[in-house]
Amino acid sequence: MLHQPTPRAGGPARGDVHTRDIAPILATHCLPCHRPGEIGPFTLASFADARHRAATIAEVVENGTMPPWHAAPEHGRFRNERRLTAGQKQLIAEWARLGCPEGEPGRSPDLSPGTGWRIGTPNAVYPIPVEFPVPAEGLIEYQHFVIDPGFTADTWVQAAEVRPGNRRVVHHCNVFLRPPTATGKDELFETGSLGSTNLVAFTPGSGPDELPDGMAKLIPAGWRLHLIVHYTAVGTP
Ligand code: HEC
Repeated sequence: MLHQPTPRAGGPARGDVHTRDIAPILATHCLPCHRPGEIGPFTLASFADARHRAATIAEVVENGTMPPWHAAPEHGRFRNERRLTAGQKQLIAEWARLGCPEGEPGRSPDLSPGTGWRIGTPNAVYPIPVEFPVPAEGLIEYQHFVIDPGFTADTWVQAAEVRPGNRRVVHHCNVFLRPPTATGKDELFETGSLGSTNLVAFTPGSGPDELPDGMAKLIPAGWRLHLIVHYTAVGTP
């Protein structure tokens, strides 16, 4: 942990303090993106990180830019809604206004989960079997990759996540399911009672697929994973 005690006259006795009030909000609502290896441009894992950006944090939280969530509130609530409550916004504003008191140094919850799977340790990992060399410049056609997970029986998937090998060049990736009889690379197919073959997607800001207990997506025996990846050139190969 990077938390360094900040000596302050009179001690951090009043107001909202990072350790108690702010860290848990950041951990739940910001760290999924603002940690190493994720999409956020900087980490908010330590007290120093949060204090350093306190003014901007208060601003983007107040105006609703962060956490990003684009669903209009008048159309109901979503289980995975990424919104802060008015109370949480007020805590952050107050904390920034008071000069970012830390509270009890070293007592903050561990906000450094590091990099790695957001769904926890997966039961199985299926790498793309070939390297794709991304050119330095130009528009790159969508790339198709087919992976055979080797499922000899129908398999139910409750959580799935795409982890780009190089996040800088992967704009987005959709993972579809593909029957054993498929030939054309661009064909998409239907399966399951919802008629959907989308297993999981990686798009800027989206999380992994994590379904509640009792729900899962079906991969029929023999079906394969069909990945469609949009790469973007970043100036170096
Ligand atoms: C779904 C992912 C995601 C979540 C969750 C998220 N952020 Fe961000 N945040 C981003 C991305 C991506 C950017 C960069 C946006 C850009 O450059 O346009 C960003 C930018 C920012 C910035 C810089 C804004 C600026 O104008 O310079 C701040 C500050 C910030 N986030 C704070 C937070 C805080 C605080 C939370 C939690 C309350 C949070 N973010 C939650 C993805 C996220």
